[in-house]
Amino acid sequence: MGFSYQNHILHAESVAIADLMKTYGSPLYVYSRTDIEYNWHLFSHAFGIHPHLVCYAVKANSNLAVLSVLAKIGSGFDVVSNGELERILLAGADASRCVFSGVAKTNIEIKRALEVGIFCFNVESMAEMIRIEQVAKEMSMQAPISLRVNPDVDAKTHPYISTGLKENKFGVDIDDAIPIYKMAYNSPYLKVKGIDCHIGSQLTKISPFLDALDKVLELVAKLGKLNIHVTHLDLGGGVGIKYDNEQTIDINAYISSILDKVGSLKIILEPGRAIVGNAGIFVTKVEFLKQNSDKSFAIIDGAMNDLLRPSFYQAYHQVLPIDENAEGIDAHWDLVGPICETGDFLAKNRRLSLSEGDYLALMSAGAYGSTMSSNYNSRPRVAEVMVLGSQYTLVRERETIQDLFNKEYMIND
Ligand code: LLP
Repeated sequence: MGFSYQNHILHAESVAIADLMKTYGSPLYVYSRTDIEYNWHLFSHAFGIHPHLVCYAVKANSNLAVLSVLAKIGSGFDVVSNGELERILLAGADASRCVFSGVAKTNIEIKRALEVGIFCFNVESMAEMIRIEQVAKEMSMQAPISLRVNPDVDAKTHPYISTGLKENKFGVDIDDAIPIYKMAYNSPYLKVKGIDCHIGSQLTKISPFLDALDKVLELVAKLGKLNIHVTHLDLGGGVGIKYDNEQTIDINAYISSILDKVGSLKIILEPGRAIVGNAGIFVTKVEFLKQNSDKSFAIIDGAMNDLLRPSFYQAYHQVLPIDENAEGIDAHWDLVGPICETGDFLAKNRRLSLSEGDYLALMSAGAYGSTMSSNYNSRPRVAEVMVLGSQYTLVRERETIQDLFNKEYMIND
């Protein structure tokens, strides 16, 4: 696939990572366009002729290059803010293939989404439904809506990325959905389109998705009896990827088990991680090696501000040397960054042969890598590159020190 060793040298498609580091410096995010397109097609093809929309979840990686590549192959998008909406429009997306999720859409966001003609709002509460109705009324329009229900299913993933339990802030309790649908059905400014749920992220088994789907289908039947007919089901994102050797979901099996249950209802999915996660890596340089009697630290130039997942979720990213034959000190290393926090690590206890100046790749960093980065410790955000075959393009410039101050003002008295 996109990243592999060729003659013991790590490549992105046909480009040696070392060449990219020479051209663009370190640290660096590198994406494989072939992988991104391949992953999206896996979802799309699995539906066959069944009506469907694969709405890439922009939050996973919102780089304009990623979005434009997906827009060109006909992807829909799942956005959660005006920023994401404007990004996809700039990237050439067709708004009528986009859904708008998120628990607190502002009046401005609702108005803009209606102006550009999005496919559907995924509404998260009665209060939000009333706000959408109000904006649609002011614009003399009908807002397409789907209610995000909370099916109370345990996604069995990290608690921070589990979203379908009653204790989570998302959606409305599935048992409270009917009065909200009745209100929407009776409003001249709202058009009931579907039901939405998203139970969590990085799921590695199909069964929680199917449990949620069963509950959603019960609601479809109850609504049908009230003459409220939905035309689509949006089952959210959440398909997990391989970070290590874990077993994960077979996308064909997942989609065919959905299709077995849903009759002719159109299906929307919102995969983020499964499209871009394995299609990106984060490359960092070993600055210093520091060993004491208990610990071996490789101090790298990348940090938690660049790739937050290890510090935030104790997430595992595989670490690969960019030269498989590189010789150095063989030990179990903790990869730690330059930030003044004990939690600033990208990997722990990894057996590697290291020398100062080596480059290391943190694999599967394409999703929730760059989008969760920050300027903590006044570190400029890193550059991003997209590779296709033997071609490569800079898709985000490295920030400069000046960029860090651009929007700030001193007090001059
Ligand atoms: N749809 C909704 C409504 C979502 O909240 C999410 C992710 C997705 C779709 C896409 O889920 P995916 O297919 O990527 O699992 N930062 C965390 C993940 C947070 C996911 C938030 N919502 C991480 O780095 O693991």
